[in-house]
Amino acid sequence: SSPVLTIDGPSGSGKGTISRRVAETLGWHYLDSGALYRAVGLAAAWEGVDLDDDEAVEACARRTRIRFADDAAGEPRVFVNGQDATDELRLETTGAAASSIAAKPGVRAALVDMQHDFRQPPGLVADGRDMGTVIFPDAAFKVFLTASAAERAERRHKQLMDKGVSVNLDSLLGEIIARDERDANRAVAPLKPAPEAVIIDTTGIGIEAVVARVLAHVHE
Ligand code: CDP
Repeated sequence: SSPVLTIDGPSGSGKGTISRRVAETLGWHYLDSGALYRAVGLAAAWEGVDLDDDEAVEACARRTRIRFADDAAGEPRVFVNGQDATDELRLETTGAAASSIAAKPGVRAALVDMQHDFRQPPGLVADGRDMGTVIFPDAAFKVFLTASAAERAERRHKQLMDKGVSVNLDSLLGEIIARDERDANRAVAPLKPAPEAVIIDTTGIGIEAVVARVLAHVHE
């Protein structure tokens, strides 16, 4: 079957931007697995599903239709149950809902087949938290991106400022450290590098340099 490059790491490690660039350069498909968890979190909110009810959230994950498509300008859009939800998916409230439902084994199980379907010729770049450990354990290429919590907080701060949202850097840093702790210690699919993953610390390194290092791993 087609080759897979998995790119896992914590929030703010630059995963999304780097994975997209690498996929574009290789001409491979791209899976934004975080968007799937966000989409389910959003659909659950739309439908008024109780996030504490594991079975109801799992049923919601199984019935939610998620479609990725580029618009006329070539910008990626995400449709949830037929509705363009791209902007809503980016909201902090959606991220929080995603992180809460992502801790449920039934939800994770419901999204496995959908993720495997992205593996198509000529290849796939899979971006997430458990791509190399759980979803594509047989991937030929595995990368784990890290960066210091301080740098990830700064990147997030800049992103929010660019969007016109003003937040306190220290409180962002506190949230990032708390989220790391939760992601690494949860019972199901905890965030950790696959044993054979190439670990790249992106602290103080520009996007282009990281993209080059990831591409070098695929070509070596
Ligand atoms: O952009 P950010 O890193 O904050 O989040 P994301 O990649 O869009 O993922 C949103 C949430 O989904 C994360 O906080 C994770 O808890 C969860 N997630 C996961 O559990 N497994 C994945 N493969 C991807 C995301």
